Amino acid sequence: MRLSHVPWLLLILSATRGTLLSSSTNRTIDDSLGDSVTGAKVQYLPAVPPSDGRLWFNQTSCAAGSCADALPNAALALDNTWTAAMYLADVSSMSINFQFSGTAIYVFFIIPNFAPASDPSSTVRCVFFIDGSQVGSFTHDSDGSGQFTYDELVYSNSSITNGEHTLMIQTTGSEPAMIIFDYALYT
Ligand SMILES: *[C@@H]1O[C@H](CO)[C@@H](O)[C@H](O)[C@H]1NC(C)=O
Ligand SMILES: *[C@@H]1O[C@H](CO)[C@@H](O)[C@H](O)[C@H]1NC(C)=O
Ligand SMILES: *[C@@H]1O[C@H](CO)[C@@H](O)[C@H](O)[C@H]1NC(C)=O
Repeated sequence: MRLSHVPWLLLILSATRGTLLSSSTNRTIDDSLGDSVTGAKVQYLPAVPPSDGRLWFNQTSCAAGSCADALPNAALALDNTWTAAMYLADVSSMSINFQFSGTAIYVFFIIPNFAPASDPSSTVRCVFFIDGSQVGSFTHDSDGSGQFTYDELVYSNSSITNGEHTLMIQTTGSEPAMIIFDYALYT
């Protein structure tokens, strides 16, 4: 190889590298519509706890205004949908479950800040598991403002081995809690 070819080779190599890097993209898993590519849906457990009515509710099931004093604005949620549950001790354990294939995961909630005493719980509380191992947790106490905040990143992990994984978002324990799931992104 003549020396004058070397810069061209470097240029081609760096161009290839750029293409490889930019080929990782983010895909969405919507609370209702599921995975934007595979169509796989999110699983909410348990659907109906032993002693209660339906546990999980959404912008459609709450349209009649029977679920809570204040509801998130669906127009500000991804795909105009959200899925929520009020956790009480007698439920004992509830979870949001889905699969993704990739190297990174980002989970987004809608965060409530109910006015004091307007609802049984204003606290958001959950633990994140990847492939059955606990990898993180999230808690938020209401600031009492009555406002919801949207697109709140509650868990991210960009150091996952490439491949098929399961994510579980679980709430357990004796204290009440509120969870409003909007969507996740995976890379
Ligand atoms: C995916 O989304 C996250 C969160 O918004 C962002 O930090 C990351 O850079 C995105 N990754 C790609 C490959 O676009
Ligand atoms: C909303 O919840 C109802 C049950 O309460 C369910 O039948 C429906 O599929 C849900 N809608 C969406 C868009 O997830
Ligand atoms: C990311 O997930 C891996 C398991 O895939 C885990 O070992 C690691 O602790 C997690 N990192 C964070 C920041 O959650």
